Amino acid sequence: MKVKTLGQFIIEKQNDFPFAKGELSRLLRDIGIAAKIVNREVNKAGLVEILGETGETNVQGEAVKKLDVFANDQFIAALKAGGEVCAIASEENDDIIPIDSEISKNAKYVVAIDPLDGSSNIDVNVSVGTIFSIYRRTTLSGPGTLEDFMQRGTEQVAGGYIIYGSSCMMVYTTGKGVNGFTLDPSIGEFCLSHPNMHTKLQGTIYSINEGNYLHFPDGVKKYIKYCQEEDKATNRPYSSRYIGSGVADIHRNLINGGIYIYPTTTKSPKGKLRLLYECNPLAFIIEQAGGKATNGEKRIMELDINELHQRTPLFLGSSEMVDKAMEFMATYSAEKQISQ
Ligand code: AHG
Ligand code: MN
Ligand code: MN
Repeated sequence: MKVKTLGQFIIEKQNDFPFAKGELSRLLRDIGIAAKIVNREVNKAGLVEILGETGETNVQGEAVKKLDVFANDQFIAALKAGGEVCAIASEENDDIIPIDSEISKNAKYVVAIDPLDGSSNIDVNVSVGTIFSIYRRTTLSGPGTLEDFMQRGTEQVAGGYIIYGSSCMMVYTTGKGVNGFTLDPSIGEFCLSHPNMHTKLQGTIYSINEGNYLHFPDGVKKYIKYCQEEDKATNRPYSSRYIGSGVADIHRNLINGGIYIYPTTTKSPKGKLRLLYECNPLAFIIEQAGGKATNGEKRIMELDINELHQRTPLFLGSSEMVDKAMEFMATYSAEKQISQ
């Protein structure tokens, strides 16, 4: 069997961008390298207690870092070393990280990243992920600024995620379909395993934290009841599946068909998830796979962004399911939805 590695695939695809000089390819490669290092660490997470601070996880005798901090450091280090980005925005940092180095002085891109998504699942051996989004800088030169990140999701050059699951996968799009690569640990390479991914128009899974039910908008409450109703023609009731790692829930729904919802709640009146480095890249992927992503009212990728860590409600998945949920929102929650 002929195996195609992520590196080979990226080089082949470079021809899709006639004016590209390989910077984006190198940037995606840098993200892949950091992902492998994070994956190695995720796999050792259960051993931290055994090996302790002076064990082989930490030869320098430094305190063992929490995995989300470790992941953040790895991605930042890989992106800095690669020289293709002039600034990074991360969930773990209040402000952007401008990059001012000799190798990055001609850098064209900025990267927004959620280095460890699903962090509540780290200690319990459940899949976690990384989400990333790449934009072309809008400022002209020097280290990047906040302005470079204040772009709509439609301006993304690439969006992707890595899932550290029973196997490690990287899934990304540059706007020409979605491809998934599985890490083969025996050769240490991501190999093309899911070419041209498509999601179903209509699935049978809904994913939402139902513990917050009482705090949901009426449209969401009614939609959940709709999912639970008995109806042979539409394969209802749907199955409820919620891991609590957005990447894992959305990856499963992308493959099997389904809807993921993180609505507003009375506790989080603007929603919980972040537009820049969670919702926009996931929206880019699901749209490229034939699905939809909205805030219950409008397309996620067309929302204006004014703040680095801006939150938004998210309805994402199989397009007919997202349409149906939006119908419920329009009927029962229209005036209560936050409009942007
Ligand atoms: P993070 O770990 O980066 O903070 O993100 C977690 C997100 C998302 O991945 C997940 O679906 C959701 O938060 C879970 O939130 P609840 O525990 O409120 O359901
Ligand atoms: Mn997250
Ligand atoms: Mn996170």
